Amino acid sequence: MADLKARIIGTGKALPQKILTNADLEKMVQTTDEWIRTRTGILERRIASSAEATSDFAVTAARIALDNAKFSPLDIDLIIVCTCTPDMLFPSVGCIVQSAIGASRAAAMDLSAACSGFVYGLATAKSFIESGMYKVILLIGTDTLSKITNWEDRSTCVLFGDGAGAAILSAQKGESGILSVYLGSDGTRSDILKVPGGGSRAPLCADVLNSKSHTIHMDGQEVYKMAVENMVAASQQALALAHLTQEDLKIIIPHQANLRIINSVAKRLNIKEDKVFVNLQKYGNMSAATTIIALDEAQKSGVISQGDVVELVAFGAGLTWGAAIIRW
Ligand code: UT7
Repeated sequence: MADLKARIIGTGKALPQKILTNADLEKMVQTTDEWIRTRTGILERRIASSAEATSDFAVTAARIALDNAKFSPLDIDLIIVCTCTPDMLFPSVGCIVQSAIGASRAAAMDLSAACSGFVYGLATAKSFIESGMYKVILLIGTDTLSKITNWEDRSTCVLFGDGAGAAILSAQKGESGILSVYLGSDGTRSDILKVPGGGSRAPLCADVLNSKSHTIHMDGQEVYKMAVENMVAASQQALALAHLTQEDLKIIIPHQANLRIINSVAKRLNIKEDKVFVNLQKYGNMSAATTIIALDEAQKSGVISQGDVVELVAFGAGLTWGAAIIRW
């Protein structure tokens, strides 16, 4: 089994129709387009309607990825959905997707690693495929952070957007596939980015709702510092595990939370701007959906061709971080 690699053979994305611009946010909280643009790089983001949930985007992205891979839902052995905003506590989004696309042979589960979810998912899929347990895996990164955002808190509500991305991974021989994944976490710093209410520690009740503790609480500056430090380290570790160097990379796809974080990571890694994929101006931070949507766009716009080496690197609540090296 050792010569089998987990190869991405199809991708897809899905986004809400509704666009929320910086000008729209100026009418909602005390902020300016100028502040948001210069401090984050974000110009607009997509926001789910009240009728839409996380699985709706996951299902659309999954169908596109299946078409792209020319696979049928019945080919899928396992569905992994990376999300921190499931439709409900249970069933998992994985099972909702399995039913919607008719993947009746597949086992299904969710994976929780916030914004690092998709990279954690790549490591999980790689392990299942290389062990020989499964041959075809549908891996989805999907979140609707707008549903857990405090729309009165200007320090967080300008940052996030909704969406989903999906990848079909298949066991294949040859050079192409996931070469390495490095993962890290630091639960001792979980306080700097969390949703304290609405879980089993503080179940949903009037107090939770009134205090808005069921929404995102973040110490932006601390998260910023930890993100830069750990994305740089993860990137270096993943390259070392793959026995490659920066020069071997065609493109690096970082988590898209803040353009200043991305630029800072690239500078410390000594990577030129034209080797860094950026789409956060259109979408903001879509949590687990971010890196897979960026990968889908990079591949379909011709930035990535067969044989190219791509790096995904992410950071999120937990704290969690990770990087993956993929030969396309
Ligand atoms: O995926 C991981 C999740 N999150 C992240 O990676 C986010 C990491 N953090 C960041 O991206 C940045 O820390 C932010 C974009 C959140 C904030 O940028 P900052 O440069 O760290 O700003 P700050 O928090 O130091 O705030 C500077 C000022 C403050 O005013 P005073 O105290 O200097 O008067 C804030 O109150 O900017 C104010 N401010 C705003 N002003 C206008 C905060 N949010 C806004 C806003 N509009 N939306």
